[in-house]
Amino acid sequence: MNIDSLSPHAPSSRRPVPSDPASATPVPAVELAGIQLTLASDAGEVNILRGIDLAVAPGETVGIVGPSGSGKTSLMLLIAGLEKPSAGSLRVAGQDLAGLSEDRLALFRRQEIGIVFQAFHLIPTMTALENVAVPLELAGRRDAFDVARIALDSVGLGHRLTHYPSQLSGGEQQRVALARAIVGKPKLLLADEPTGNLDLETGAVIVELIFDLAREHGSTLMLITHDPALAARCSRIVRLADGRIQEDRPSAQIGPAAGSKISILT
Ligand SMILES: Nc1ncnc2c1ncn2[C@@H]1O[C@H](COP(=O)(O)OP(=O)(O)OP(=O)(O)O)[C@@H](O)[C@H]1O
Ligand SMILES: [Mg+2]
Repeated sequence: MNIDSLSPHAPSSRRPVPSDPASATPVPAVELAGIQLTLASDAGEVNILRGIDLAVAPGETVGIVGPSGSGKTSLMLLIAGLEKPSAGSLRVAGQDLAGLSEDRLALFRRQEIGIVFQAFHLIPTMTALENVAVPLELAGRRDAFDVARIALDSVGLGHRLTHYPSQLSGGEQQRVALARAIVGKPKLLLADEPTGNLDLETGAVIVELIFDLAREHGSTLMLITHDPALAARCSRIVRLADGRIQEDRPSAQIGPAAGSKISILT
């Protein structure tokens, strides 16, 4: 995978979310209409997503839940522009992704989106520090390595900066991936099972980091999880089943644990 596609952006390049002058309502952070995804497999075509309509407002936090194989990761890959829909339209921050060349798409992703993949997609030949810093460097941040060091420290990996992914545990790799996704304070954060490989205590720290980022920077968060308590931290829950939205409802939000606030992303 092109590492450009993974990187966040410098805050100086942040643009305000455009508004629709006619209605003065903010443009949705994510807008999907009639999205279908059909992929070929040895056993024939697989209908992975079967007509998804979904609009997510800027700053909204959405928990994406549903059984294994229901299409959650596929949906996230589409929103990140890493997979193309077979039918339907898809806008992120008002931008129709279908209208972008691969290069423009990579740039758009770098400017707008932070992604934590279910499989971490770290670059094996780069140290933990380089994995976090290099995308920032590509985005023109002169302080890339300093900021990356702070981010890795915040996920408890200050002592593993020079380790390569193969020298890190699964949970440590997941934390590097998270540091990389949040370090540029993206307007849209997509996280696929971000605590799936973590022990309870580390997972709780990571969750606070994610929600702090969303709150402090007004980022939109789409969080895939099998953990009902984690989903309940979001303002809205979307449940997928067999490639369709089965349920879309506000959540009875559970607030952060007292005293758990961590503010590291300066
Ligand atoms: N490249 C592919 N080609 C064919 N089928 C695929 C491909 N990628 C995913 N699928 C199938 O699409 C369905 C949805 O997969 P997806 O990874 O989106 O599920 P998920 O909801 O994220 O599941 P999990 O909770 O296990 O991560 C699965 O049945 C999977 O086998
Ligand atoms: Mg998945």
